[in-house]
Amino acid sequence: MTSISGAGGARRVLSVTSECVPLIKTGGLADVCGALPWALERHGWDMRVLLPSYPGVAKALGKTEEVWKSADLFGGPATVRIGRTGHMTVLLLDAPHLFARDGGPYLDTLGQDYPDNPERFAALSWVAMEIARDGLDDGWRPELVHAHDWQGALAPLYLRQQGVAVPSLLTIHNIAFQGLTQPDRLAGLKIDGEGFDDGPLEFYGKVSALKAGLLSADRVSTVSPRYAAELSLPEFGMGLDGVISTLNQPVVGILNGIDLEVWDPETDAAVTPYSAARPASRAKNRKALQERFGLEAGSGPLAAVVSRMTTQKGLDLLAEVLPGYVAAGGCLAVLGSGDKAIEKTFRDAAARWPAQVGMAHGYDEPLSHLMYAGADAILVPSRFEPCGLTQLYGLRYGAVPLVAPTGGLADTVIAANPAALGAGVATGIMMSRVDAGGLYDALMQLITLYAAPTTFKQIQKNGMKADFGWERSAGAYATLYSDIISEATE
Ligand code: ADP
Ligand code: GLC
Repeated sequence: MTSISGAGGARRVLSVTSECVPLIKTGGLADVCGALPWALERHGWDMRVLLPSYPGVAKALGKTEEVWKSADLFGGPATVRIGRTGHMTVLLLDAPHLFARDGGPYLDTLGQDYPDNPERFAALSWVAMEIARDGLDDGWRPELVHAHDWQGALAPLYLRQQGVAVPSLLTIHNIAFQGLTQPDRLAGLKIDGEGFDDGPLEFYGKVSALKAGLLSADRVSTVSPRYAAELSLPEFGMGLDGVISTLNQPVVGILNGIDLEVWDPETDAAVTPYSAARPASRAKNRKALQERFGLEAGSGPLAAVVSRMTTQKGLDLLAEVLPGYVAAGGCLAVLGSGDKAIEKTFRDAAARWPAQVGMAHGYDEPLSHLMYAGADAILVPSRFEPCGLTQLYGLRYGAVPLVAPTGGLADTVIAANPAALGAGVATGIMMSRVDAGGLYDALMQLITLYAAPTTFKQIQKNGMKADFGWERSAGAYATLYSDIISEATE
């Protein structure tokens, strides 16, 4: 069988992820995993992406060939099929007993976790280990395994427990999700639980896939330098701050990039095209956005939120200060779903102020593009944010980010403080602190800045010109990969 990979002579890395653009997405992890292969190819790395074959994914991928097979993977037959989409080589793990489900990748149609999520993603990680150990039928075998989040985190553990001499990198996209389960499921997870009680798996009496990965991987990285520093603090470590502090090597923070081909206001099919040099037609997107949400044009800013609705994202704080923002003439368009109570507060707000607040429930990729292209500001008041991509899309599309001073938000936005405004380099607005008061003050700054069009346009332009492509970060991953491999072979 011939290899479909286009990267002859390149170094080989296996990315292990539960979601990946353009095949399946619930959040930023998918954007990142979808963009990395092409970014890394330019640095001489042939990355293949191992992804579960959820319903619809195989069809979207098109032509594939079988490259791996098992008669019994965690209770049923499984194959891995290789295919290409865009610049990416995908290895689809087809295991219908685990992944052919109605609902999303993690939640059933009622929004509940599938009870066997630990086993579903343990199986994904197990296959990564087998591919690293034996290679695929086309002869491809990785020199490094790059696992993402808890869903991939058992791969480093399996590599160690099975004595496979292929090193691994674990990237934390969000430490809030840890893949916890009961120790009586260890055998079903194919984990050698000897010494469980004081071993790397144990987390307050439960099995933690993420902790196992942190302690088994050769290196650990996360998606911004600031979050890398925050992870060892109790406020951010979600109980794993102590573990993070004991790692032999510090967590490496590599900022996410964005895919500049997908996210380009000049060529984006979902919007009326415009650019930093020709910003005039941006107004058409603003009008379209207003109409879509039934909002009336006033003299204040139109802010947008595109987000999962969880306490992480600080949207409860926004709901709290919304009356003041609306009274000051601000408009708001919200797109998202998640926590029912948070959803309800925005639905209620839309009913109370229909001319100024609109809420679109659900997940809508094209609408999200229109929101970045039409809004004057994008609000990201997160309590913690490992990197955050919506502020980056906002920057690129001229929606001024208003962000919390945390994680990747703090690393990517230049706050419009007097020094930055004086130097003409500001790209956004930063809350002074993450609480309702901090958000209210930042929204009032938005109102004031928006009322000064010359300054506001300068801030928009600065953001649109900022470079958040993958080039720099892909270089950092390429260097890290090489370092891990050399350290492992020393
Ligand atoms: P997280 O991964 O924590 O959700 P990020 O900011 O890294 O946060 O990434 C969120 C991604 O999901 C962005 O690409 C954003 O545009 C997208 N997104 C979030 N909610 C929605 C939605 N309701 N509809 C469309 N896209 C959404
Ligand atoms: C996570 C984080 C987000 C980050 C994304 C991609 O979902 O919550 O901040 O941008 O992963 O790394």
